[in-house]
Amino acid sequence: MALSKSGSRVALVTGGIGGIGTEICLQLAQVGRTVIAVDLATRSDRIEAFRERTAACNGAIRFEPCDVGDFKACGDLITHVERNIGQVDILVNAAGITRDTSLRKMDPQQWHELIRVNLDGVFNTCRHVVDGMVTRQFGRIVNLSSVNGQTGQFGQTNYSAAKAGVHGFSMALARETARKGVTVNTVSPGYCDTPMVAAVPQEIREQIISDIPVGRLGTPGDIARAVVFLTADEADYITGANLPVNGGYFMSF
Ligand SMILES: NC(=O)c1ccc[n+]([C@@H]2O[C@H](COP(=O)([O-])OP(=O)(O)OC[C@H]3O[C@@H](n4cnc5c(N)ncnc54)[C@H](O)[C@@H]3O)[C@@H](O)[C@H]2O)c1
Repeated sequence: MALSKSGSRVALVTGGIGGIGTEICLQLAQVGRTVIAVDLATRSDRIEAFRERTAACNGAIRFEPCDVGDFKACGDLITHVERNIGQVDILVNAAGITRDTSLRKMDPQQWHELIRVNLDGVFNTCRHVVDGMVTRQFGRIVNLSSVNGQTGQFGQTNYSAAKAGVHGFSMALARETARKGVTVNTVSPGYCDTPMVAAVPQEIREQIISDIPVGRLGTPGDIARAVVFLTADEADYITGANLPVNGGYFMSF
C-alpha cells in the first residue's frame, strides 16, 4: 500500500484553492488524507486566504503552484510531490475556467484557453500519476465535469465540450485501469454558490434557482462529500461512473 511519509494517503487536488477545490481539500484532510492543493502561483491573495482557511488542519494541507495546462510542469510537480511527500494515490481534477460567449462570437483563443485548462489539464495530471497508481495497484481519480457538459448550455460550446470530454476521458481511462485497483469517475456539479456562479447576472441566477427542484444552489460541501465518497478505499467497485450533484436540476440514468 502506498502511503505518504506521515502514513496517510496523498491526495492531489487541482484548482485546490478555488471555491469547490478548497472544500474538497478540507474534507479530504478531515478523513485523514495528506492533501496537496495545486493552483496557479499568480493568485497570491487567494493563496494567502487559503492558507488561513486551512491553517487549523495541522499541516495536512499544503499548497503547490502549477499550471495544469502545462504538461511538463505537471510532470515536475508529481515528481516533486512523490520525492518529498509521498506517492499520489488520489487525484482530484477541479481546476477549471469559463470563457463564455455564443459560438458566433467565440474566437479561437477563447476556445483554446478553455480546452487547455479544462480538458488538457485532466490529461496532463492523469498521464503523470497513472503509471504509479497501476504499479502500486491502487488509485482513485475523480474529475470534475458539469451539468452543462450533460445538457449543453447557451454561450458554453467550449465549456460543454470540455466537460463532456472529461467524462468520455474518464470512462476510457476507467476501462484501462479497472483491473489494476485504479478507479476513475466524474462528479458533475450543478450550479453551486461559488465565485464562478456569482459572476452570472443576478436575474439569470434567480431563474436558475427556481429551476432547481431542491430549491437552492449547491454548496462546495455538497460536491466535496461526493468526492470523499468516491475516493474512499472501499469505493473500489465504482468506476467509469458519473455522479451528478445538482439538486435534481438534471435527472437522467
Ligand atoms: N461552481 C459551479 O457551480 C460549478 C458547476 C459545475 C462544475 N464546476 C466545476 O467545478 C470545478 C471547480 O469550480 P469552482 O466553482 O471551484 O471554480 P473556481 O473558479 O472557484 O476554482 C477553479 C480553480 O481553478 C484554478 N485554475 C484555473 N486555471 C488553472 C490552471 N491553469 N492551473 C491550475 N489551476 C487553475 C483557479 O485558480 C481556481 O482556483 C471546475 O472544474 C468547474 O468547471 C463548477
